Amino acid sequence: MENKQFTLEDQSLLEELLLHRRDVRGNNFLSDPISDEIIDKLLQAASMAPSVGFSQPWEFVLIRDAEIKQQVADNFAAENKKAANAFSDDKQQRYQQLKLEGILEAPLNIAVFYKPSVKPVLGQNSMLEAGEYSVVCAIQNIWLMARAMNIGLGWVSILNPEEIKQILNAPTENKLVAYLCLGYVKTFYDRPELEKKRWEKRKTIRSVVYSEGYP
Ligand SMILES: Cc1cc2nc3c(=O)[nH]c(=O)nc-3n(C[C@H](O)[C@H](O)[C@H](O)COP(=O)(O)O)c2cc1C
Repeated sequence: MENKQFTLEDQSLLEELLLHRRDVRGNNFLSDPISDEIIDKLLQAASMAPSVGFSQPWEFVLIRDAEIKQQVADNFAAENKKAANAFSDDKQQRYQQLKLEGILEAPLNIAVFYKPSVKPVLGQNSMLEAGEYSVVCAIQNIWLMARAMNIGLGWVSILNPEEIKQILNAPTENKLVAYLCLGYVKTFYDRPELEKKRWEKRKTIRSVVYSEGYP
């Protein structure tokens, strides 16, 4: 249908989805499998994302195999050890208590890749990163569609991308953009877990908006 108009009710539904979308980690995943039909819906949502020059430069690897997940989880453990060292004493201790992934607990993992185009892409000359930004748009679509189906998603970035590529036998030119963990959840928190645990606070919008340039 062309020129579809949305109602105020539709708007508030989107607001609710945005408000209740959460990053879900291993302490909150249930083991119930996600059906192929639902996975298909999530991937359809990804494919509706905007992309530079309509290049659709995304590729997805679905992972349910326990052994592959274990290899990824081992990689997380090694990277997370290094990440903890970036913080000093007290914060390091608090960091170590955080659960920052759900690789083994989530029944479905999805590795999301950026596949650079071999041909020139309309609009991707001056800002090459626009290709990777497009992949992030697809990830956000999956995140919101998952939430609409009451499925939790956690984004894991504490991984060595080259080692994950090797584990998944990914083509050399592909770039790992995200590693996602998906599953039904025990509880969707009402606030970011990192806020509940007093690691970070939400910024006010006023503190990040400038008018007509930076002062
Ligand atoms: C690019 C990106 C990478 C992230 N990587 C991780 C991660 O490695 N581990 C983790 O626990 N959360 C990760 N997150 C989730 C954020 O911590 C989370 O989005 C933030 O704390 C706000 O919480 P919310 O998503 O529940 O609103 C990542 C989120 C983004 C967008």
